[in-house]
Amino acid sequence: MTKTWMVTGTSSGFGKELALQLAQKDDVQLIATARKKSDLDYLDQYNHGQIKKVLVDVSKPEEIKSAAREALAFSKQIDVLVNNAGLGYFSTIEESDMAAVRYMFEVNVFGLAEVTKAFLPQFRQHKSGTIVNISSALALTTLPTMGFYSATKYAVEGYSDTLRKELAPLGIKVLAVEPSGARTNWSGASSQKQVPQIADYAGYQQMVETMDEGVTKSPGDPKLIAKAIIDAVESPDTPAHLPLGEFAYNGGLENLQGLVKEIESHKDISLSTDD
Ligand SMILES: NC(=O)c1ccc[n+]([C@@H]2O[C@H](COP(=O)([O-])OP(=O)(O)OC[C@H]3O[C@@H](n4cnc5c(N)ncnc54)[C@H](OP(=O)(O)O)[C@@H]3O)[C@@H](O)[C@H]2O)c1
Repeated sequence: MTKTWMVTGTSSGFGKELALQLAQKDDVQLIATARKKSDLDYLDQYNHGQIKKVLVDVSKPEEIKSAAREALAFSKQIDVLVNNAGLGYFSTIEESDMAAVRYMFEVNVFGLAEVTKAFLPQFRQHKSGTIVNISSALALTTLPTMGFYSATKYAVEGYSDTLRKELAPLGIKVLAVEPSGARTNWSGASSQKQVPQIADYAGYQQMVETMDEGVTKSPGDPKLIAKAIIDAVESPDTPAHLPLGEFAYNGGLENLQGLVKEIESHKDISLSTDD
């Protein structure tokens, strides 16, 4: 049976790979979004009427509303919504430019939430479907100079975990994907950087300066990541979380096991505060 997928941020990276793979499937209708129409020209060669291009900046709630109207006019039922659009910001916490941080939250958290909200009524109406939120390995563990980025993705995790509980009785699934570093534009054009100026943080200078290079050389392959996401959605046992890559798996496990150990070590204090 044909399923309709809607993917945000399909101009590059994971979103573009998802769109490319979905565009070539016989049983998929695709709604691909971007901020610039020409960024979606690459889809033309696959389009035989099953692809709809929609322009939306996810930091603009009015654009999201009209994008949702356009999407639902193309297909009455959206089966899979992939909230992929996002950006990074690299700086120590103390030196972060709060205007840039707020904008990142607008896109990575509130944009994702507004897009989801625009489609929840139709998911509830059909009592089926999957919402995929692209989170990050940096929502399972943390690294210096990526604190506010992690904060946006930890927010996506808390949001997704709650939404999953609210929607499970209605037959709607929520999948949070936690990719490790992958070769996309994320650390380049999609991000801002602030090289540490405070001498106490000099040890992190190189980390921020070489961020682009680091991600270009990341082991994460967007093609394999897109395939893993599609496979997880199509599986009858769609997981709640999909950590992808060695850093997400090992780094995530190490951090979460440390957290469990720490919580257990304070058990007496924790249980002493209820009267
Ligand atoms: N690459 C990694 O290492 C990595 C790891 C874990 C998680 N992620 C997450 O994966 C997702 C996709 O990123 P990517 O790695 O594929 O990077 P990317 O190649 O830079 O793609 C980011 C996409 O988000 C779009 N976008 C940014 N701001 C937007 C806005 N205000 N409205 C609409 N679209 C917007 C971009 O569109 P424009 O071209 O118009 O800017 C682009 O299509 C993000 O949520 C990112 O945080 C990435």
